[in-house]
Amino acid sequence: MEQVNALPGSALGRGTWGMPRRPELATDPTTRTMVRRAHAKRFPFPIPNGWFIVATAAELPPGAPLALHVFGRDLVVFRGDDDSPHVLDAYCAHLGAHLAVGGRIEGDCLRCPFHGWAYDGTTGRVQDIPYYGTERVPTQAKVGAYPTVERNGMVWAWYHAEGGEPFYEVPDVPELADPEWTEPVVRAFEIATSCQEMAENNHDPVHFRYVHGTDAIPEDEMLVDGVYKRAVSMGGNFVRETFGLGLGVIRTKGWSTFLSSTTPIDEEHVLVRWIFTTPNDGKATPEEVADLFLSGVSQDIPIWENKIYVERPVLVKEERTILDHREWAKQFYS
Ligand code: FES
Ligand SMILES: [Fe+2]
Repeated sequence: MEQVNALPGSALGRGTWGMPRRPELATDPTTRTMVRRAHAKRFPFPIPNGWFIVATAAELPPGAPLALHVFGRDLVVFRGDDDSPHVLDAYCAHLGAHLAVGGRIEGDCLRCPFHGWAYDGTTGRVQDIPYYGTERVPTQAKVGAYPTVERNGMVWAWYHAEGGEPFYEVPDVPELADPEWTEPVVRAFEIATSCQEMAENNHDPVHFRYVHGTDAIPEDEMLVDGVYKRAVSMGGNFVRETFGLGLGVIRTKGWSTFLSSTTPIDEEHVLVRWIFTTPNDGKATPEEVADLFLSGVSQDIPIWENKIYVERPVLVKEERTILDHREWAKQFYS
């Protein structure tokens, strides 16, 4: 990690400072930058600990920080000079400026637009207060930092309610970068639900008939190993792998590979990103497969968005898989 004070342009006076002067901001609130949001409570569980997509690689160009609202928090994501992504809490520990609104990238640091404090992208610690001295930076001068990786053409951040280290990895999905497979197609959409509720769908065999008008595909094999699950059906032709709450890889032999990430925006909204690819000589294009899966989920969405969460549900014997799922999900909550 390079120290920001060793890099050119880090001292006050180099480069140009000062936010843009736009008098219309005062008279026309619609021209103001507003990235702050609020949330309310609907489910009896918090945001789960895990890896979640915060941006596609293409959404995060070098040189410009991006404002995000996920995990019930305002965050900033940016690429350091070596292109590696970093995610920090958005509000400066000094006087609360939003680091994505005018913040400047220097090396692996993000410098606040308000008074120039520079934050290390990996640790969230202030490295430099340009008018005070690098050696005298107070130890409390830091913001929350999230472990971040770029994989499968996506930028992922690790969320943990207590700041704990990652306890699993983002899987590599080789098909997404394989020339024998098509250019991935991304579909993103917001739903008023939670990761656990969406995942419960896979363990609710009866709803297939009533919501999707089809019989549930019987599972030949179901492996549960800690945070990992694998369900195999259709004689090995359909494999669904799950990594934590909100990360899945679904492979349909000869048809498609599909990576699914469900990012909690707050405790009752999620942003779903589905990434599809198909073999070049496969039976369908990634757009066709995406349309198919999207038609399916469009049937679930009105249910999810309007239902409540019943903590002690009345179930029949065949439905105990729902309770197993709820028990499994507990490991992701602090
Ligand atoms: S508010 Fe960020 S440096 Fe003052
Ligand atoms: Fe469904």
